[in-house]
Amino acid sequence: MLSGTLPIDLTAFPSPPGPTPWPIVGNLFQMGNQMHLSLTLLRVKHGDVFKLRLGSLPVVVLSGYNTIRQALVRQGEDFAGRPELFTFSAVADGTSMTFSEKFGPAWLLHKKLCKNALRSFSQAAPRGSGATCLLEEHVCAEAAEMLEMIREQSAKAELDSEMTDGASKGVDPVKPLVTSVANVVCALCFGKRYDHNDKEFLTIVNINNEVLKLFAAGNLADFFPVFRYFPSLSLKELVQYIRRMNGFMERRIEEHMHTFDKNCIRDITDALIALCEDREKSKEMSLLSDTQIIHSVIDIFGAGFDTIIAGLQWSLLYLIKFPDVQRRIHQEIDEHIGSARMPNFSDKPKMPFTEAFIYEVFRHAAYVPFTIPHWYDWCTHYSEWLLHSKRHLCFHQPPCSYLWGDPEQFCPDRFLGHSGQLNKELTEKVLIFGMGKRRCLGDGFARLEMFVFLATLLHGLRIENVPGQKLDLGTDFGLTMKPHPYKITVSSRFTEM
Ligand code: HEM
Repeated sequence: MLSGTLPIDLTAFPSPPGPTPWPIVGNLFQMGNQMHLSLTLLRVKHGDVFKLRLGSLPVVVLSGYNTIRQALVRQGEDFAGRPELFTFSAVADGTSMTFSEKFGPAWLLHKKLCKNALRSFSQAAPRGSGATCLLEEHVCAEAAEMLEMIREQSAKAELDSEMTDGASKGVDPVKPLVTSVANVVCALCFGKRYDHNDKEFLTIVNINNEVLKLFAAGNLADFFPVFRYFPSLSLKELVQYIRRMNGFMERRIEEHMHTFDKNCIRDITDALIALCEDREKSKEMSLLSDTQIIHSVIDIFGAGFDTIIAGLQWSLLYLIKFPDVQRRIHQEIDEHIGSARMPNFSDKPKMPFTEAFIYEVFRHAAYVPFTIPHWYDWCTHYSEWLLHSKRHLCFHQPPCSYLWGDPEQFCPDRFLGHSGQLNKELTEKVLIFGMGKRRCLGDGFARLEMFVFLATLLHGLRIENVPGQKLDLGTDFGLTMKPHPYKITVSSRFTEM
């Protein structure tokens, strides 16, 4: 069947080029274990649109800003579906907005509800600080907690080194980053923050990590349907992890149902329960089940921390690799914030260099190499290419080399205009949140949170490389790619706060 909106003779269009597939496995083994790099090489050979076969899955790959924009914005409705992957159904069991719904009125309503729940809770009144909203209250409190943890770890490391050979060994910033960022999303979703050593909390954070790793490794059951009946060890492991993760969420949701009071909405979970209670008021709401509505909190929770943690890990690495960039952020902090108060949301628009730094980290590290897979049902065309029906779409978000002139250079200034203001036309070209109907729900939230975490850290500390540590900007392939482990040393910028 042809796309109903296209009065065009599709037979006139050629099929996109692509590498020759091998029998049965298709191009699967040609991907290696660094799929993003293999696709970059294939892009050089075949152009921005090419086709592949991964096992039994036919895939069309679209790369680069202009190509992705045309597909996801101008032809957005054609390409907004998600495939019925076996692993997606293991995660979502049909209830997820992110993974398991076809594009249509029910999905549009589901995304609108998730957006509203996130927005209304981010912007709700704070509970007991001078913050302007609840999100700011949580983010600023967790950022301050993270600063303290890093200070404590560093003091302990100094003491240890004095007792041994006197050489500074530095601290690994990952644990404070992970626990603080995960706590922001826990507080918004479940009205609760966890102690940084809480066992259940650490288990959930760890499970989330493992799930993402197993997802990134790809699963034979997705590529060859027969493996659904002979599940591999990694598939069994994935299903077990997902059950434990969903069990944790469902326990939180049940607790909320037992203690729900419509006059006191505590968090996103309560807001979603209230929507179900009020469902008679809106006919539209009958499109979604209670489980779908309430399980939206799982979509928000699952997506809301790993990508930010990775962004912060990359940011700290760039800060120690490029001390001059750090010096300019310190200068901006001193000019706009000063030593007497901590950073908050309202500082962001006044600190264009810090914002430009965050965009340059997104662009240069390009640490989310793909969107979540998309899907289209009908035979259609994209640009001059014929796209056969029922294909997986892989949107490859590379660092967009040809747009930037000197793509290898790490240079936040590229995003600043002549008078030092942020060039929004350019920042929009940084592909990391996807585009169009399926664009990330939390992009504004993520940029605010990263800003406050970084500004708070640099407000209190000077961060440096550990003497002798070689800094490497390499990464292993993953859905969210992290830098290789590194350590930092820190020193306080102000003696008294
Ligand atoms: C720097 C941080 C983040 C990055 C780089 C990022 C990136 C992405 C990307 C690439 C997608 C897939 C888009 C597509 O399939 O076309 C996505 C989807 C999504 N993100 Fe984010 N994200 C971040 C933070 C967040 C946060 C903080 C939240 C929630 C609080 C969030 C919620 C979601 C949701 C719910 C979706 C699914 C949207 C849909 O299927 O329509 N993300 N994100």
